[in-house]
Amino acid sequence: MDLHYDLLIRNAMVIDGTRRPRFAGDIGVRDGRIADIGLLAAARAEIEIDAHGKIAAPGFIDAHTHDDRLLSSDPAMTPKVSQGVTSVVIGNCGISLAPLVDAAPPPPLDLIDDGGAYRFPDFASFLEELEGRPAASNAACLVGHTTLRVAAMSRLDRAATAAETARMQEMAREALAAGAVGLSTGTYYPPAAHATTEEIIAVAQPLKDYGGRYVTHMRHEDDRIAESMEETFRIGREVGVPVFISHHKVVGPRNHGRSAETLALLAKAGERQSVCLDCYPYNASSTILRADRIALSSRILITWSKPHPEFAGMELAQAAGRLGLSQEQAVASLSPAGAIYFSMDETDVQRILQFDETMVGSDGLPHDLKPHPRLWGTFPRVLGHYCRDLGLFPLETAVYKMTGLTARNFGLKERGVLKAGYWADITLFDAAGIGDAASFEAPTLPARGIDSVIVNGVPVWREGRSTGARPGRVLRAGAAKERAANA
Ligand code: ZN
Ligand code: CU
Repeated sequence: MDLHYDLLIRNAMVIDGTRRPRFAGDIGVRDGRIADIGLLAAARAEIEIDAHGKIAAPGFIDAHTHDDRLLSSDPAMTPKVSQGVTSVVIGNCGISLAPLVDAAPPPPLDLIDDGGAYRFPDFASFLEELEGRPAASNAACLVGHTTLRVAAMSRLDRAATAAETARMQEMAREALAAGAVGLSTGTYYPPAAHATTEEIIAVAQPLKDYGGRYVTHMRHEDDRIAESMEETFRIGREVGVPVFISHHKVVGPRNHGRSAETLALLAKAGERQSVCLDCYPYNASSTILRADRIALSSRILITWSKPHPEFAGMELAQAAGRLGLSQEQAVASLSPAGAIYFSMDETDVQRILQFDETMVGSDGLPHDLKPHPRLWGTFPRVLGHYCRDLGLFPLETAVYKMTGLTARNFGLKERGVLKAGYWADITLFDAAGIGDAASFEAPTLPARGIDSVIVNGVPVWREGRSTGARPGRVLRAGAAKERAANA
């Protein structure tokens, strides 16, 4: 055994991401990969980290993000790296930056735009830019159906014509050939709400040829959720690919408790097809501001507003009062805008998180003025609040839900598990001290208890701050196709 490494983590308690019980060990890293795990007391390295009293886990994989533009606007990826996240899945909810050239795209595409972000005529040029100017974290990329619709259709208030569907299918194929790991939809949102199930099945056809995934923010998460789940399962079966239900939740007081039913549906569907889901650990959601959420929510907080940025952080009811308008009228005068909706039941959140197949995904919105705290707090909140404090599951399971399970579901080869030969994405944290600090009142506070974060063998977070290193790569579903980001 060669006892010299680039980086050596000593005296760690290793949780390897497979759910196997923790064990004491050292981790030797060479050329970006884990060379050895075991007792390496005699070894030496350029960089040595004493992890006494700390957990060494695979770097967390954020299964659901809208970090598409954050990767270039804040390549240090502070909201994510500070939580121990080493890889993000971007392009969710039908929203991807490519392929689309549009100076003023309709909501919800504006969630990740500040004007001029949609400037990639094809997916390959987007990935080229990501690889040419790497971020601190890795990224696996989905292509968004809503983006395709905006690019291919002259009007969005109808189903696509045969020619438009063919065009979208061709663009989806180009994205997958370039390295997208799947297609996402957001039929909840107006620009995609008129898409028929048949349109989606047609656009998704190339997924089968490329081993891609179908990932969806479903049409309904409230009264008609079961129907939307059936539509999702049907799309997966007809295309012949795994389906992912994004940020699974049941919305509105009438539906509280129905996760018992939806999880049973998921388990049943899982007997005949591949079904995955992600969840964020909060009982409030966040997206664009919409009047149809008023009746479903006990409280609504404004996260941003183009015409009235001064209302960010304020309750909608209070903003309406100031404007002398009803809440419905206030939505119209504040839009385009974003909001946080208190519309879920805590029992449902916990039941969904506990479900065996549930991955952790933040769904954070990094460009909101007063974002939902999930952007900065998701992973430490699962590890601290839900795992340690409430005892929802053992720490090994919590780690698995944010590492090994996610890598397996997305086909991210040689990631998500601490194992010799795998890429060295590693997070060191303090199991007793880890916790989310971000709150609805102060949503951008970094988490507590993250010690060090290593991406592809390179430390990106030490002693509570970014190191400035940007070793992130674009992750393709299959290691052979993965190219070095900074080759
Ligand atoms: Zn969504
Ligand atoms: Cu989302």
